[in-house]
Amino acid sequence: MLKKYLLSILFVVVQQMTYGQSREIVNFNQGWQFILEDDLSFRNYAYNDKNWKSIALPHDWSIGFDFDEKYPAGNAGGALPGGIGWYRKTFDLPTLDSNKQFFIQFGGIYRYSELWINGIYLGKNINGYLSFEKELTKHLNFGTKTNVIAVRVDNSLQPNSRWYSGSGIYRDVKLEKRSTSYLLKNETVITTPQVNTKESIVNISAKTAGKDLLAKVEILDVKGKVLATKEKNVVNNSIQTSIKLSDINLWSPNNPYLYKLKISLFNNKKVIVDELNYNVGLREFEFDDKFGFTLNGISTKILGVCLHHDLGALGAAFNKSAAKRQLIIMKEMGVNAIRTAHNPPAEELLDLCDELGLLVYNEAYDMWKKRKNKFDYNIDFDEHHISDLENFIKRDRNKTSVFMWSIGNEIREQFDSTGIKLTQNMSRTVKALDPTRPVTSALTETEYVKNFIAQAEALDVLGFNYKYFDYDKLKTQFKNTPLLAAETTSALQTRGVYQTPHDTIQYWPASSKDKYVVNGNSDYTVTAYDNVSAYWGTSHERAWIEVKKRDFLSGIFVWSGIDFLGEPVPYAYPARSSYYGIVDLAGLPKDVYYMYQSEWTNKEVLHVLPHWNWKKGDTIDVWCYYNNADYVELFLNGKSLGKSTKTADVLHASWKIPFESGEIKVVKYRNGKEIQQVVRKTAGSLSDIQVEVEHEKYATGDATDLYFVTVSLKDDKGNLVTEDDIKLEFHADENCDVIGTDNGYQADLNSLSKSKRKTFKGYAVGYVMKKDINKVGNLIIKTKLGTKEIRL
Ligand code: GAL
Repeated sequence: MLKKYLLSILFVVVQQMTYGQSREIVNFNQGWQFILEDDLSFRNYAYNDKNWKSIALPHDWSIGFDFDEKYPAGNAGGALPGGIGWYRKTFDLPTLDSNKQFFIQFGGIYRYSELWINGIYLGKNINGYLSFEKELTKHLNFGTKTNVIAVRVDNSLQPNSRWYSGSGIYRDVKLEKRSTSYLLKNETVITTPQVNTKESIVNISAKTAGKDLLAKVEILDVKGKVLATKEKNVVNNSIQTSIKLSDINLWSPNNPYLYKLKISLFNNKKVIVDELNYNVGLREFEFDDKFGFTLNGISTKILGVCLHHDLGALGAAFNKSAAKRQLIIMKEMGVNAIRTAHNPPAEELLDLCDELGLLVYNEAYDMWKKRKNKFDYNIDFDEHHISDLENFIKRDRNKTSVFMWSIGNEIREQFDSTGIKLTQNMSRTVKALDPTRPVTSALTETEYVKNFIAQAEALDVLGFNYKYFDYDKLKTQFKNTPLLAAETTSALQTRGVYQTPHDTIQYWPASSKDKYVVNGNSDYTVTAYDNVSAYWGTSHERAWIEVKKRDFLSGIFVWSGIDFLGEPVPYAYPARSSYYGIVDLAGLPKDVYYMYQSEWTNKEVLHVLPHWNWKKGDTIDVWCYYNNADYVELFLNGKSLGKSTKTADVLHASWKIPFESGEIKVVKYRNGKEIQQVVRKTAGSLSDIQVEVEHEKYATGDATDLYFVTVSLKDDKGNLVTEDDIKLEFHADENCDVIGTDNGYQADLNSLSKSKRKTFKGYAVGYVMKKDINKVGNLIIKTKLGTKEIRL
């Protein structure tokens, strides 16, 4: 048993060795034991954990539960439990390695964690969203004596979050092996003081541990060709150098070209002792208080969305392919930026943004000293906010995608004078570590004299949330400062639900007097016509129009790109996930996705809503999102019901028509020519399920890459059946795990980890992981219509 385990570790080392010969990074996610109990004896070396649950990381223990209102996080926190859990991992190290140094790195543990190696206490970590490292070297056993790492995770103080946090070791864990001389990863600073296609300059500053060292810095193109090399003696444990590159490819969302920058360290015998690799994109940008944002010299509106860190049915447990799926879905909508609301993301998410071409508004805090929830970060703020901020900047400052640092979202200190000093201190902290990116904060107070964060005069860009009616006032209130619509919209929708809209927007809840909507829907849904929002927000169309027409606003971050767990405004429990997303929790677009696509991309867009499964006598509003056309025309069972166009103030075409069974067709015309058409047919009775598997598109090369299995309900002619939902059972063979299932419905109370799910408005999604990626896996989907077998 022991032997086998060692072998598997060695295998992983070979697979995961990304940093050359001397530094080895071992993926340390496999082979953990877990228990949702608390006892200090669990830290002991000799404790027998064999009856605990065997799990792989990343792991979120909360997501495995059914939703329940009894949990103290409340439905705002996702109606799931917190608690205290322990993780243990037993591992062996070869005697050969006894002269090496070992470090364990955690990408994120929510929330408080304490660590022991072989029974010896290593310390505590406070911030649930930051990565951290602990050195193990002194306490390790080599050869036949095994090692045990024990981690106690405490997420029992509740409520501590305005959204679902997840609980546990929910990001990657790595074990790093280094020689005594090495590069200090968090001390490397790569900047690009001059960027243009003719000649660009890359400055590199790095620090080392060890003596008598020589460093080599190389820049390689995407094909691996070395473009430039510099060699330097390491003086006082530091390296400073500068490299000129000519005829370069710029990095941008349209062309995310990444150079490789390799720093190699040699000892005085010219033997390599360490190596670090970075992706470097060359881009420059500017914010202007009158003309907005410019990227590589081109005036560019920031088209962004706010995203929380959960991955729907996976909970907070990070999975690179699931994150990639979210980002690609957003990018295909036309997004060029994301805001990591309201906390540091997984480092791998930033790598994805570098690769895919997404700018990142990287955010540190949702609160400072003044709390939003009793047990949130306010209790640790005084002691930790500066060091946490430093760790955050050091971890992420070499990511090309990161273009702004936010020190906080809707911070309460903006309303009193304590905000001034705190803002100045934090801004100074950020700039000392990274003078190349603007520091911002997302504010709500639109009057300068009442806004103490703005009065600190320490921010480079001011972000404002909501209140579009104040946008013009901002120019005079906050003179000479670039401005950004840091958060907008908060419109509410359930995918596939349509209620004849009122002509005006409805606010659910109507005002601050109500906690919840008073006359909502009994099934806790909200119509997907874009006409309902929280009272502090507005419709998607309105929010975008107001930003679009103002050049001085650098851009928009819509709340929110994708539904997330928790904050289910406008409803009380059993609603347990948000209605704000342009895309639902399962990753399925709501109709308004196509409004953005029609406005933010040049793809040919023609999208018609609603479905055509209604009753005789119903009067239906037909909406159409389109672009690049003179007009669109609606046909009901072949008969034209007239042309319609969008306008500067209404971003969809529309008709109000009586339902008649059959089909509606919308045709899009440009220069008198038909360009596209879409048909929606009345569905017959349910006769089949259609299964679509996506994998390649979202694959990242990790063994944990998921298969995303979308099931839809069809009649015998292939039309979508929207009003006859059925139960699905996902059964996987021994080579597959069904990690979770979802249907995007915000009040479905079955655990998202279950492999049984009812469809919602004709759809459900399953997330499947293979155990051995080189072997075929079989998935069987059972319904009352029969079984379908899918080979993965
Ligand atoms: C904002 C806040 C977000 C989210 C949103 C919901 O005020 O910054 O985190 O709560 O409201 O509408």
